[in-house]
Amino acid sequence: MNSEDREQQPLSPAHHHLRRRNNYMKRVEAAVSKPKAYVVLLIAVFILGYLSHSHPLLSQTASDVHEHNSFPEECGQPVHHRDVRRTIEERVFNGSSPWAGFPPEHVKPLLWQEWNKGWGSNAAVFEHLIDQVRPKTIIEVGTFLGASATHMAALTKKLGLETQIVCIDDFRGWPGYYDEEKSLKMVNGDSLLMYQFMQNVVKANASESIIMLPFSAATALGGLCDWGVYGDLVEVDAAHDFHSAWVDINHAFKVLKRPRGVLFGHDYAWEGVRKAVHIFARLHGFQVRIDGEHWILY
Ligand SMILES: C[S@@+](CC[C@H](N)C(=O)[O-])C[C@H]1O[C@@H](n2cnc3c(N)ncnc32)[C@H](O)[C@@H]1O
Repeated sequence: MNSEDREQQPLSPAHHHLRRRNNYMKRVEAAVSKPKAYVVLLIAVFILGYLSHSHPLLSQTASDVHEHNSFPEECGQPVHHRDVRRTIEERVFNGSSPWAGFPPEHVKPLLWQEWNKGWGSNAAVFEHLIDQVRPKTIIEVGTFLGASATHMAALTKKLGLETQIVCIDDFRGWPGYYDEEKSLKMVNGDSLLMYQFMQNVVKANASESIIMLPFSAATALGGLCDWGVYGDLVEVDAAHDFHSAWVDINHAFKVLKRPRGVLFGHDYAWEGVRKAVHIFARLHGFQVRIDGEHWILY
């Protein structure tokens, strides 16, 4: 039998399999020996890694979601409302009133004797809630120049209440903050908002009933929680994007005196605020009521 005859012989299934395997191995060896193949392999591995680690739908587990939504469960033992101011003075201001010796000489010429402004700062909601709750401690998250805080101080005084108002603000305003109408001087990058707020509190004769916590909302509320300082009224009016409002509302709720305390806030018209308020209300079984531009949880 010559070689041509042999080739025309039908191959057995075992031979077919062997031949296919040999051809496949040859192709793999040829591919692996080319540098281009390594580059393609590297890109494929990178894309797979990226997809599995950075895409939230692929990487976020139930415990991640739980982590995102877990805020402190327990705050400290409540301090008596008459000790709220002293607690803050001791923890933050080295045991003395931040208004002692205010304004310092170098700051005096930089401040306006009279300049206050806010947004909905004198709204009827403040009178409604102060009448209803008769608060001994109010916590305000987002104070700016103190317009709403001094308004609340006047309302509580009118009712003969002995109320301490704790104002939380980093006194930075917001990125790009600059008041074109009546701006404060910018001193080495400091917009002097805290000093003008203090000046406004002095002008309103309210420095005994108002004290500030000049920190970010989350850290200041964390401090109050640790020290056991709770509010009968807690107002949220800091940044209005969803994530800020969501975090502020959750932290603020921890320092709300329950069950009688009321949590409320400004700028319900902002989409981020509205979304955060409704998710929070749904999760905690509250109704949302609207009073002017404010939301209230009941
Ligand atoms: C709308 S203004 C508050 C107005 C004030 N409630 C009133 O009616 O007069 C918002 C304030 O929140 C402060 N703020 C924004 N985000 C903050 C944050 N994460 N921590 C502390 N303060 C913040 C800003 O500095 C600004 O003064």
